[in-house]
Amino acid sequence: MNTFPLGSVDVNRIGFGAMQLPGQRVFGPPRNHEEAIAVLRRAVELGANHIDTAQFYGPEVANELIREALYPYPDDLVLASKVGATRDEKGAWLPAQRPEQLRSAVEDNLRTLHVDHLGVVNLRLHPDDDSVPDQSVSLEDQLSEMVSLRNEGKITNIGISTASTAQVETAIAQAGIVCVQNAFSLLDQSDIATLELCQQHGIAYVPYFPLGSAFPGMPKVTENATVQAVAARIGVTAAQVGLAWLLNRSDNILLIPGTSSLKHLEENMNVADILLSPEDIADLNKAV
Ligand SMILES: NC(=O)c1ccc[n+]([C@@H]2O[C@H](COP(=O)([O-])OP(=O)(O)OC[C@H]3O[C@@H](n4cnc5c(N)ncnc54)[C@H](OP(=O)(O)O)[C@@H]3O)[C@@H](O)[C@H]2O)c1
Repeated sequence: MNTFPLGSVDVNRIGFGAMQLPGQRVFGPPRNHEEAIAVLRRAVELGANHIDTAQFYGPEVANELIREALYPYPDDLVLASKVGATRDEKGAWLPAQRPEQLRSAVEDNLRTLHVDHLGVVNLRLHPDDDSVPDQSVSLEDQLSEMVSLRNEGKITNIGISTASTAQVETAIAQAGIVCVQNAFSLLDQSDIATLELCQQHGIAYVPYFPLGSAFPGMPKVTENATVQAVAARIGVTAAQVGLAWLLNRSDNILLIPGTSSLKHLEENMNVADILLSPEDIADLNKAV
């Protein structure tokens, strides 16, 4: 399987995103606890050594499932979490960008994942932070706190998420980030400038929503007629075409598709050998 460096570890380019494991709207316990555990174990069996999570998935639920399924963790497993958000008691997503909130979020991840350091922590930004009381913190101050946490050994590598190209440039210069996690897929290529910036700097680009997400109202790669037609022609599923297209798009792309289904997991982990011809790529570009 192809690899790309995530900090000092060469991870398989097909990883796993844990956001679909908690209940509906990423809130509360899973619909099927046994299947959630089985999905995590199977992902690792099939070669995933990069699992993306967050304390605020559930909250706590995704991290606790990961710990239940995989602890003690394989030596080469990179657990990538993120800080900068929290949930209220009804599940609403709220920013949590103040330095002391970033620090306590890292501590919460260490506790729930039962580790003494985290392989990667992404600083997740919110485009409209300034409109939320107490959340007007400069990017530089947030990055300083992340660098302190790295100096203390609680974080091995820093990443950034939901960031503009200019914010990524600042994070590269100030904090030596190893990855960027932004929304990107066959159907949403609006972040190409950031992908290319990461390519130039040799750092990983980790698209979230690679299949268009589970959230209603966002175009789904699996429902796109052009993607479905290419999939039928080459004898794979539409999801596999969307993921293979990403692998093909740039060598520094690391996949973290999210699923709560063993069947979908098996499909997603099996895309490295799918060859898209120039004709397939040309057709898929028309799907955008
Ligand atoms: N940094 C951030 O702010 C941020 C934001 C969002 C997500 N993320 C991370 O990125 C990861 C990926 O994003 P995502 O999970 O939101 O969206 P996604 O991977 O684009 O899509 C997930 C949706 O696709 C379905 N799916 C997965 N595999 C499938 C397949 N083979 N065939 C058909 N449907 C399939 C899932 O349903 P089933 O469960 O039924 O398979 C789910 O509804 C997340 O898990 C999370 O770790 C990060």
